[in-house]
Parts: sequence; structure tokens; C-alpha cells
Amino acid sequence: MIIETFITSPFEQNTRVVACKDTSRAVCIDPGDSAEKIAAYINENNFDLQAITLTHAHLDHIGGVSGLSEFFPNAEIILHKNDEDLYYGLPEQPLFMGIPRHQLKALGLEYEVPPLLTRHWQHGEIYQVGNLNFKILHCPGHSLGHIVLAEERLRKVFSGDCLFAGSIGRTDLPGGDYEQLMNSIREQILPLGDDVTVYSGHGENTTVGREKISNPFLTGAYQMSPERNG
Ligand SMILES: [Fe+2]
Repeated sequence: MIIETFITSPFEQNTRVVACKDTSRAVCIDPGDSAEKIAAYINENNFDLQAITLTHAHLDHIGGVSGLSEFFPNAEIILHKNDEDLYYGLPEQPLFMGIPRHQLKALGLEYEVPPLLTRHWQHGEIYQVGNLNFKILHCPGHSLGHIVLAEERLRKVFSGDCLFAGSIGRTDLPGGDYEQLMNSIREQILPLGDDVTVYSGHGENTTVGREKISNPFLTGAYQMSPERNG
């Protein structure tokens, strides 16, 4: 597996191009921005981009979908059904994050409606990229339709904004739910195994085992108060 990370958008999101080294088949996970740079990397390496694979539809993960799909019009665009409204509502997303409309242009957060999705993720499906096999796990809590992509043989999970090194995804945006996120992490991600490397949507890589013993949301050091979670 070849993994290249691009830090994109004002939110410093980790966009990744993941390729099968035997077949050069590739996907781009969460193109937040910088479509030209990502496309140049894919073309320089002669990768065959088969899909834009989205963990969820927050703007910092999908802002580059339009641009990238112009370079690769045959690539599938795949998202879980429960994040579809967020996806097609991309131009409005900065407003519900509290950013006033008149500031969007200056902040680089003016978006067009992204291209049509070609398919929805199904929980439990195995998604093949050459010789790579990603198990798709529905992990709601940060958003309604969040999924993670787990390559169990190669012991890697692309966890989007579910789990970070030392933290978890925010749950205060529409569709967010703290208890649901914790359940997703406990029931879908932790059972993958301590040795699994976690490639998060923001920040450094980590492992499931390291998070189990050091992440304050998993060790019990941090308890969400009922008031704070509504
Ligand atoms: Fe997010």
C-alpha cells in the first residue's frame, strides 16, 4: 500500500491518496481542497484513480471533490447515504459553522454544489482497490453518515474525524452525538486490534493500542457532562 498525505484547506485536513503498489489502482480519501496538486501527484505516479472515497461530508473533507472529479471524470464518488444532505448542501456549510456569508470569499470557503455521487457506502461491504480490501464501517456520531475504511490484512484504518491521536471528533455540529460517537469508536474501531495504525482526518497518525491507553476520551479521564452535550 502506498499512502501519500496532503494537508488541505484552512482546517488542515489530511487528504490521502492510497494506492495498491501491485496494480497502481488508487483512491483519494477526503479531498478537502488542492485538487490540482493531488491530480498532479496521481498522474506523475501513473496511478489509476478509481474513486473519490469520502469518510463524511464536512466541507474540509469534500471541498476538493469538484476540482478532482474534473481531472478524473470516470472516478466514482462514494459517500454514506446519511451524509448526502450535507454533501449537496456544501455551499451552506460554512454558515452553520457560524461564518458570516460576506466572509466566505476572503476565507476561501466559497463552494459550488459538488458533482453527483455515484454510489452509497454500505456498512460491512468490502471495497477493493487492486489487491487492497477495505472494510467499510458505519461510525456515526461526528456526522450521521460517517464511515471508516479498514484494511484489516495490512492493519490500517482511515478513521476520518471519528478518532484522532489524543482526541475524538467534535459532536456539536448538526447530526453530531457524543454517545453515538463513543459507541462507534468502541464497537467498530477498537475491535480492529491494538496494532492497527490509525490515519486520522486531522493531525498525526496513531495506533488503536496507543489511543486505548492514552486518549482521555477512552481511558475515562474525560467525562462529557450531560449539560454540555444537551
Ligand atoms: Fe468533520
